[in-house]
Formats: sequence, C-alpha cells, structure tokens
Amino acid sequence: MSQPSRTLVTGGTGTLGQALLPRLLADGHTVRATSRAARTGDDVEWVRMELESETGIRAAVDDVDVIVHTATAPLGDTEAVDVEGTRRLLEAAAEADVENFVYVSIVGIDDIPYSYYEAKLDAERAIEASEVPSTILRATQFYPFVDELLEMVARLPVWPLPTRLRIQPVDTGPVADRLVDLATTEAGGRAAPVGGPEVRTVGELATAYREARGRWRPIVRVPIPTATFARFREGAATCPEHDVGSTTWEEWLETEYATG
Ligand SMILES: NC(=O)c1ccc[n+]([C@@H]2O[C@H](COP(=O)([O-])OP(=O)(O)OC[C@H]3O[C@@H](n4cnc5c(N)ncnc54)[C@H](OP(=O)(O)O)[C@@H]3O)[C@@H](O)[C@H]2O)c1
Repeated sequence: MSQPSRTLVTGGTGTLGQALLPRLLADGHTVRATSRAARTGDDVEWVRMELESETGIRAAVDDVDVIVHTATAPLGDTEAVDVEGTRRLLEAAAEADVENFVYVSIVGIDDIPYSYYEAKLDAERAIEASEVPSTILRATQFYPFVDELLEMVARLPVWPLPTRLRIQPVDTGPVADRLVDLATTEAGGRAAPVGGPEVRTVGELATAYREARGRWRPIVRVPIPTATFARFREGAATCPEHDVGSTTWEEWLETEYATG
C-alpha cells in the first residue's frame, strides 16, 4: 500500500465531502479542498474552484498526487459541471501528473434513464478514456439525500410518493471510509460498488421518516409510469451483495432527529 498523499477533494463542502475531509486528515493525507466560495480552515487548505467557468482548476490540481472528485451540480447545468467540468479537471490532472483520479459515481446509472445519471455516465467514460490513472466508486443514495427529498413532501398535508421504488440508502461515513481506502497513489480502476445495509421501499423509508419526525400525514402511493421509475422499482439502483456500514435508516433518523 502506498503512503498517504497530497490529496485534493473537489466539492469539499458537499454532503460526502464533509464526511471525507476529516477521514483523509486522520489517515495522514495533506488535504486541499475546493469550493466556489472563499473558505478557510486550520487543517485543510481551501481553494476556490468553479468547474463551469474553469476558474481555479489548474491551481487546485497543482502539486497533488490524488484527486477525489465529488463536486457535482445535479440541479444546475449538469452537462457543464459534471461532464465538461470533469473533462477540464482531467486535463489539468494529466498536466500535473496526478497518480489517481478517484471518482464518485452512482449505482445503476447505466440502467436507469435519467438525465443526471446520463451525465454521470459520460463523466465516467471521460475518466476511463483519459490518460490519468483512475478509480471509480459507485455508491447508492446517501441518507441525507433521502432525508432532503422526504423533507420536501413533509410540508404537504398528504405525502404523494412512488412508494414501491426500491433503494439501498447508505450513511456517508462508510462511503467516505471506502474512498479513503481508495485514495492512494495506486489507481484501482472499477471498485466494487457500495450500498447501505438494507434494500428498502420508498414507502418503508417514508413511514420511518414520518415516525421520526412525528408528522402524522397519510402516505399516498402515486404510481409514476415511466421507465426511470420502473427501473428503480426493479432494484436497478441497488447492490445488495455489496453493503457497507451497519447504520440502518431508522438508526440514522434517530441520531439526526433525537430530541431531549
Ligand atoms: N447524494 C447522493 O445520494 C449520492 C449518491 C451516490 C453518489 N453520489 C455522488 O457523490 C458525489 C457527492 O455528492 P454529494 O451529495 O455530496 O454532493 P453535494 O452535497 O451536492 O455537493 C456538491 C459539491 O459540489 C460543489 N459544486 C457544485 N457546483 C460546482 C461547480 N460549478 N464548480 C465546482 N464545484 C461545484 C459544491 O461546492 P460549493 O457549493 O462549496 O462550491 C458542493 O461541495 C457526487 O458525485 C454524486 O453524484 C451522491
């Protein structure tokens, strides 16, 4: 195993980025992280980088051995940020002789028709076509993301949900742990995917969420007849044979929303 390295985390302020930074530091990495906004920190060197406009990419990549690329814009211009931005980052990484470009992707993206997933797939292809040695880790949906989605319907008097969709949500901690294992100067290609300890339906997740939040609203099944939802129902976003972490959704909710 190679020594801990000088490691750049793109999207260091993100859900996963925040879980990753302390773990890399604890593992002995010298850590630089990016945000579009100016930030300071004691242990992490923060640099400004904007993938869409190309601002700060070369400076961010300068003198690093490993990049863990977690920056993404699912609600923004995904093509410009996730696809073209990843290409720009790869070009800079090639010039800087980066030894391992670690990319975080999503389980099932080649099986589920959805524009964000298509962008992720294009980014994966750009990475694999690049001269930069790389490692790609696909993960399932993160608990904070599921929480955010349910929070959106939680304000409604009735919760209309595609209750039969099946996902395998995961805490960000074990995904970040796996990324630390992969963030060495030896690129690993395709890593085994990671998912949470249980495959659950959206209906089950929403019921547990309702209980944890104490919001007694009816959950109403809304069947959405699209190929995207059909693939989710069939389990295309899951990888039950590759679970990591033991924290269940109910346990995560209890920690997140514990009162008293
Ligand atoms: N969320 C999930 O459930 C999930 C599941 C599996 C895999 N993934 C993948 O894991 C990775 C991290 O996801 P996440 O949920 O942690 O993301 P996130 O919380 O949305 O964070 C995205 C990060 O990207 C940065 N960013 C956004 N637009 C940018 C731009 N134009 N230029 C440069 N940086 C930009 C943001 O930083 P600033 O705002 O500070 O600039 C932020 O730190 C992504 O690749 C995602 O596809 C996510």
